[in-house]
Amino acid sequence: RAVSYVLGIETSCDDTGIAIVDTAGKVHANVLESQQEFHTRYGGIIPPRAQDLHRARIADAFERCLAESQLQPEQLAAIAVTTRPGLPLSLVVGLRYARHLARRHQKPLLAVHHMEAHALQARMEHIEDLQYPYLCLLISGGHSQLAMVYGPGRLTLLGETLDDAPGEAFDKIARRLRLYVLPQYRLWNGGRAVEHAAQFARNPDAYEFPLPLARQRNCNFSFAGIKNNAFRAIRHQERNERTPVDGIISNYSDFCAGLLRAVSRHLMHRTQRALEFCLQPEMNLFGQAPPTLVVSGGVANNDVIFANLEHLAKQYNCRCFRPSKRYCSDNGVMIAWHGIEQLQHGIKPVSSHDVDNIQV
Ligand code: KG4
Ligand code: ZN
Repeated sequence: RAVSYVLGIETSCDDTGIAIVDTAGKVHANVLESQQEFHTRYGGIIPPRAQDLHRARIADAFERCLAESQLQPEQLAAIAVTTRPGLPLSLVVGLRYARHLARRHQKPLLAVHHMEAHALQARMEHIEDLQYPYLCLLISGGHSQLAMVYGPGRLTLLGETLDDAPGEAFDKIARRLRLYVLPQYRLWNGGRAVEHAAQFARNPDAYEFPLPLARQRNCNFSFAGIKNNAFRAIRHQERNERTPVDGIISNYSDFCAGLLRAVSRHLMHRTQRALEFCLQPEMNLFGQAPPTLVVSGGVANNDVIFANLEHLAKQYNCRCFRPSKRYCSDNGVMIAWHGIEQLQHGIKPVSSHDVDNIQV
């Protein structure tokens, strides 16, 4: 079968990602422009500012992507673009640019659901041994979900967060902790900074956080309790130490170790419930496919969290995958790959004459 190429455009939040991927899962170009540097200065993402940055960079990102791939626009089978969920002001920049490219080069357009793209991404690199269906734990800055994944557009939600997402909790707590005053963490996201700091804990058991939803017999998540407990613990410690205004508590590494353990335990606890549910023989949810857990989204970057989930999966004779780190966080590759999956599963793209039918 001839290979085909899909261009993917991702602008749902604060990364401008454009990439070209083929049907065999080969990445021909991957351009990623992060806005982290601008947003950390303001303590968070300001949507109109994110929109300006996407606008300023998207055409150049496309040109660089094309040059890197050494392909011509004529060779593309389709253009895939994130249409939801995300910041509306950011999403429209990618969509408008995708419509423009589709019209100009007469290419069909595919709408991509951002979280679904995270959920399917692991298949790109494990095309031989990761078949549908599988159980997916989707953990990012905006979401926390457990779902059975049957294909593009075919997910069954088993549980989701009742409040914050885990990445969001890491980001907010890291900011409250002022980890960004340490030069090594200045440009890192909260989760990565917490993971790194936790490695240097001298007393990793100094902080304990209660297990959320401990008695609830479902697959939902809650991170607001951990977050509020964390804020309280930081305030308490700051008072004890009389820290200067922009200082940071001296035992922040111990604190990060406790926080990481709490988030990790909650994720494992809920995933264990989902595994037990899915693996009941009478449910036969996996059919002929071997039982498999896929962990994806920005928080899947975390080696401690992933190792714990891998260990859990093993106890249930369940295989465990995640995308490579560069594809766990937001990027254009996962959008292009979702486009490939859509084409391969017979989902009809919108023709270049009807691109206005696709909206955010
Ligand atoms: O998937 P993603 O790039 O964007 C969203 O769709 O939200 O995820 C971003 C989130 C951020 O909240 C960040 O703190 C978290 O992923 N993250 C991590 C790590 N790297 C990124 N969380 C924990 N450990 C990490 N190493
Ligand atoms: Zn994401």
